[in-house]
Amino acid sequence: MGLTLAAGFSTAVGPGRLFAAGRSPASVARLREAVPGAVVLPPAELPRQAGLIVLCVRNADLPAVLDELRPRLTARHIVITVNNGLPLRALAEAVPGPVAKLIPSVGNDIGAGATLLVPGPRLTAQDTEGLLVLLRPFSTPFVIEEGQGRAATDLASCGPALVAGAVRAMVDAQQERGAPLSRELAEQLVAQSLHALSRLIDRGARLDDIVDRVAVPGGNTAAALDAAENDLAAAWRAAFQATADNERSKPAPQLGEGVKRA
Ligand SMILES: NC(=O)c1ccc[n+]([C@@H]2O[C@H](COP(=O)([O-])OP(=O)(O)OC[C@H]3O[C@@H](n4cnc5c(N)ncnc54)[C@H](OP(=O)(O)O)[C@@H]3O)[C@@H](O)[C@H]2O)c1
Repeated sequence: MGLTLAAGFSTAVGPGRLFAAGRSPASVARLREAVPGAVVLPPAELPRQAGLIVLCVRNADLPAVLDELRPRLTARHIVITVNNGLPLRALAEAVPGPVAKLIPSVGNDIGAGATLLVPGPRLTAQDTEGLLVLLRPFSTPFVIEEGQGRAATDLASCGPALVAGAVRAMVDAQQERGAPLSRELAEQLVAQSLHALSRLIDRGARLDDIVDRVAVPGGNTAAALDAAENDLAAAWRAAFQATADNERSKPAPQLGEGVKRA
């Protein structure tokens, strides 16, 4: 996700203003290739160069990364986590400055998809506005509350993969019935359905309107929706229960305490 966000941010800031760090030679090489405009530094150097630091590591790696950054972090550094499972209160206790949560989504590297911004302790309205200015060039940002994070992430960040999984099941079902379509053609056809759906919604159509326009009473689409409705609803209930259970099963990391409040 770090590469996706770095690629997105590189479209929002001028040359030489995006700094990035990796742990291994392999991750640094991936970073240089994906975001050629980024200045790559050792993690401990980031606070010297950047006022906004986005931590794109897993929860288990956060304590080590914060230990490297902390000696040079001041109350002026905004620190952002991309981890839903990390309470902002815990991050705020571990660093001296303002904190926020940013949930990216997979299209952000090509200028598409949502970003979810959760303002945390010490982040001012002006800071939030500044972050939105950085996010708009590569995403559609939404400011949400921390309590909305799981549900909003299910839809916006897990969403592309969940919809891709649902569409894959749709294509599989046609293939299993022996539909006289190659898999490639079937995927192209359903991709056009997604494209049209997305454009109609962009122009203000509601999901119910689109269903009603296609699924005329007594028609084939209405019959298909009737047949699938209960299973679809059950599948999504199970999916979202699974994300909630998975998140609850992982303890938040112990981050230690911030220093320098100056
Ligand atoms: N995947 C998504 O779509 C998505 C969406 C929203 C939020 N998130 C959240 O983003 C977080 C990261 O997920 P991910 O899928 O991007 O994981 P990932 O592919 O494992 O990437 C984590 C990166 O952190 C680097 N790292 C770990 N410790 C480091 C250290 N001490 N110094 C520098 N770099 C270090 C790793 O380096 P190495 O390459 O050397 O191991 C790796 O490149 C997760 O908490 C996840 O919940 C993910």
